[in-house]
Amino acid sequence: MTSAVSVRAHAKVNLFLGVGERRADGFHELSTIFQAVSLHDDVTVTAGREEVTVAGLDPERVPADPTNLAARAARAVVERTGREVDLGVHIDKGIPTAGGMAGGSADAAGALVAADRLLGAGLGEAELLEMAAQLGSDVPFTLRGGTALGTGRGEKLVPVLARGTFHWVFAISAQGLSTPEVFAKLDELRDAGKLPGPRTDATAVLSAVAAGDARALAEAMHNDLEAAAFSLRPDLRRMREAARGAGALRTMLSGSGPTMAFLCASGTDAEAVADELTGANLCRAAFVAEGPQPGVVGLDW
Ligand code: C5P
Repeated sequence: MTSAVSVRAHAKVNLFLGVGERRADGFHELSTIFQAVSLHDDVTVTAGREEVTVAGLDPERVPADPTNLAARAARAVVERTGREVDLGVHIDKGIPTAGGMAGGSADAAGALVAADRLLGAGLGEAELLEMAAQLGSDVPFTLRGGTALGTGRGEKLVPVLARGTFHWVFAISAQGLSTPEVFAKLDELRDAGKLPGPRTDATAVLSAVAAGDARALAEAMHNDLEAAAFSLRPDLRRMREAARGAGALRTMLSGSGPTMAFLCASGTDAEAVADELTGANLCRAAFVAEGPQPGVVGLDW
């Protein structure tokens, strides 16, 4: 048996995020369009000792213990095989650990694929996607990548035609924001009649992505969670204003935040927006990225 398998897993941005009713299981019914972007983590799974090690970007922000979602993913694969083997997971982070970019989900998707390969388990894509959905709402998308429409909790995926390359900046807030709190705030504001119901029509986003048209995408992008996140974190508006001033085509909360995503017309524009945001000290860090990208890809096979 090979002793180690390494894969690369990419971050995501939601080009459209319509949030419906809270379901009996506590999750919200979503209608979302995901795009995988070039920020990535490299995940290596080894046989022998059960341990989690983390290197790269902000390693102290990632739990290096068995609760890590990637470690749980590796254990889930071991359980499916019925084998008695301990797996180690090493994560080299390039995805900021900040919320809204699915970094933890990408690590879990990477660990599923790497563990499957290492153990020669031969789990098919359907089985891996089902295991991914059990680990978290964004894990199936980070496994597949590209551009996709997600429904249910976000785990039911249909690929979407995308042309060209979209240029992004992701600005990382110094302070965190809890995903369940953002969803709860949206429910609260809707119950009080302060926010409209879900946006459901993503047609304009689908057309823009199919045409590779960044300006049309800038017009069409939408995130139902943005108003809720802004009401919890009014400071995020300052990043929005600075990015607009520096030439971003569109600013939007990334997923449930607090990371902010800025769509730009070119890589050069994206660099200028990132420089402005970091220079003005409005974020902890800003990263330039491109999408779409694949999901999990093998590094040594
Ligand atoms: O599935 P995941 O662990 O990423 O979800 C984190 C939290 O986000 C959930 O516990 C829930 O509070 C909220 N969530 C939601 N509806 C979704 C996805 C996530 O309410 N579709």
